[in-house]
Amino acid sequence: MSSLPDTLCHLNGRTLPLCDARISVMDRGFLFGDGIYEALPVYGRRLFRFDDHMARLERSLAKLRIDNPHRREGWLALVRELVAAHPADDQMVYLQVTRGVGPRDHVMLEGLEPTVFAMSNPLKQPTAEQRHHGVACVSARDFRWERCDIKSTSLLGNVMARQMSADHGAIETVLLRDGWLTEASSSNVWVVHEGALLGPPKSEHLLEGVRVALLSELCEECGIAFNLRPLAEADVFAADELLLSSASKEVLPVTRLDGELVGHGALRGKPGPVYARLYEAYQRAKREQSI
Ligand SMILES: Cc1ncc(COP(=O)(O)O)c(C=O)c1O
Repeated sequence: MSSLPDTLCHLNGRTLPLCDARISVMDRGFLFGDGIYEALPVYGRRLFRFDDHMARLERSLAKLRIDNPHRREGWLALVRELVAAHPADDQMVYLQVTRGVGPRDHVMLEGLEPTVFAMSNPLKQPTAEQRHHGVACVSARDFRWERCDIKSTSLLGNVMARQMSADHGAIETVLLRDGWLTEASSSNVWVVHEGALLGPPKSEHLLEGVRVALLSELCEECGIAFNLRPLAEADVFAADELLLSSASKEVLPVTRLDGELVGHGALRGKPGPVYARLYEAYQRAKREQSI
């Protein structure tokens, strides 16, 4: 068993060592995966796109009819305390809210006290090797449920999808539902076509990453056309560039898909110019926007 870090965590209003945190086996998060989570990056102890993460947390809770245990200021105070207590400057804060503890019943029992758990870990950023050479992905059928818009802790489909890429030494699994691009197991996926950044439209089949709005802003800033529209499997495999985005991956070039090199001509199998501009803009945004 790998050992747990002895950092402090937050559980239901208490701060305690992670290895001492305990919840009831009757917690609906444990029994049903009946809860939601957020993962927010912290650079130099400052929070990046905090309000966007909070807005998504609020949306996820509302969709599941779980009471939000804190106002935004309360979440901010909780997160700031965790960040201050952690030894690393760059961190990934994890927040989880479950419906709480109650008798095992599929019905969304009312009046339960939500369980609030939060921890922080050192931020694992993409390596220089991954940024300079790109990463490998595999593709697979998207066999998950139809409410992937909720950032739910019920992640078994995502876990199974991720393992397919791990089994092939790849970093992510690009998912296609009925032949249409949705996302990857824990990232959004972007196709570059004729200089434009294209992503699938918002729907219940994918999570709206915090980086979706961010990338649209960065594209605007860089003069790169940005469009959300349905993308077929053929668009993915014919991409000039293929990118992943997530809180931990930031924006990352995919240079191999199912063992084939991505892209065309001299840039085949290499990170492309749209990636390079977005990477620079992303680093600037981290410096300028973190709070
Ligand atoms: C399924 C899924 N899609 C997309 C994303 C990207 O979202 P964000 O940019 O908010 O990290 C994530 C992040 O973990 C995810 O789990």
